[in-house]
Amino acid sequence: MDKTRQKVPLPKPMLKGAMLTSLAPMQDVTDLPFMKVMHRYGAPDYFFTEYFRVYPNSRLDRHILRSITENPSDRPVYAQLLGNSLDDIKRIVPQLENHPIAGVDLNVGCPAPKIYKNAAGGGLLRDIDRLERIVEALREVVQGSLSLKIRVGFDSFEPFEETIALVEKYSIDLLTIHARTVREAYRGEPHYEFVKKAVETLDCPVFANGNITSAAKANRVIKDTGATGVMIGRSAIRNPWIFRQVREFSHGNPIFQPTLADVRQYVDDLNEMCKEKIERERSRVNHLKKFLNFVGQSVDPDGRFMKAVRRCQDEETFFKTCDEHLIEGDKAKQPFRIEPYAGVVARPNCEDGHVTEVGECKL
Ligand SMILES: Cc1cc2nc3c(=O)[nH]c(=O)nc-3n(C[C@H](O)[C@H](O)[C@H](O)COP(=O)(O)O)c2cc1C
Repeated sequence: MDKTRQKVPLPKPMLKGAMLTSLAPMQDVTDLPFMKVMHRYGAPDYFFTEYFRVYPNSRLDRHILRSITENPSDRPVYAQLLGNSLDDIKRIVPQLENHPIAGVDLNVGCPAPKIYKNAAGGGLLRDIDRLERIVEALREVVQGSLSLKIRVGFDSFEPFEETIALVEKYSIDLLTIHARTVREAYRGEPHYEFVKKAVETLDCPVFANGNITSAAKANRVIKDTGATGVMIGRSAIRNPWIFRQVREFSHGNPIFQPTLADVRQYVDDLNEMCKEKIERERSRVNHLKKFLNFVGQSVDPDGRFMKAVRRCQDEETFFKTCDEHLIEGDKAKQPFRIEPYAGVVARPNCEDGHVTEVGECKL
């Protein structure tokens, strides 16, 4: 590594002491249409794309590229890469940097067996030498900000210190820690103490990720760990106001309390989003149901809405069900719960470690 290399200035407002937010990269979710919806409800400070798979002769996926070239907000977008082929990483990065990205992020956490068994994603955490070669190659070619999204280990916490040492050695500009091991997938409470360790060791901004379910939780995790920011995934699908709420909380302002009528509007916006990409009614309803799986965690304590939505097969029944549970009678004015109701679990859910072959966790 060129030790004299100047550290790339971080995009504003990546300042220490601020409570910053980013939307977690989520395959099949965080595409341009979803970014547009998020933008409408209160965008995060940073976006991350779904991962670009990098392999021999790979090309930049056009669908993912749109979330960079047509970014509806003024918020920077990091382009995430998944792969381990050094030559191809070196080939792809300059192509990406022809587009308006805030930086390049490497996926060091994907728990899908097909990925980790090939020593990519989360598999890099049990092959630290290979991870180092990739980080070294990235450091050579990335002109802008270089970011890593890691987990705290593969099946133990053992590689954590070595991984952090690499972050320091190669002057990584931004580190996001999903505070679980690869084996833990999405189960259980994250080990935020590792975020704290990283913050104490490193100069670069560190974002905490994993089960940040509300503005209050974001604040608590930031206080406990000293992290610069939080990355939020599933709770942003459930509650699209979450980034706005985090900002309100950090400024000491009252937090926006959505009603079920607001949620009904969100369903319409999600439907518009789906129309942009899915023509067939049945497929669109199925896609919407995956999003509402998460939304339903905050609608009623018994998961009645979630169960009713799961049974819908066509658009008419789907919207009738939404009206019935969200706006009819005295429902419209009822509050949408900020935290998910305990025991109301999205299914198929990440808590079961339902990890797909191609993706991370199927919605
Ligand atoms: C449907 C889905 C797809 C995901 N895809 C990616 C991905 O492409 N790249 C990545 O680094 N993480 C991916 N993740 C992991 C999330 O970025 C995040 O680390 C994880 O969901 C924990 O955060 P949360 O508890 O706020 O959801 C995915 C998660 C989900 C639920």
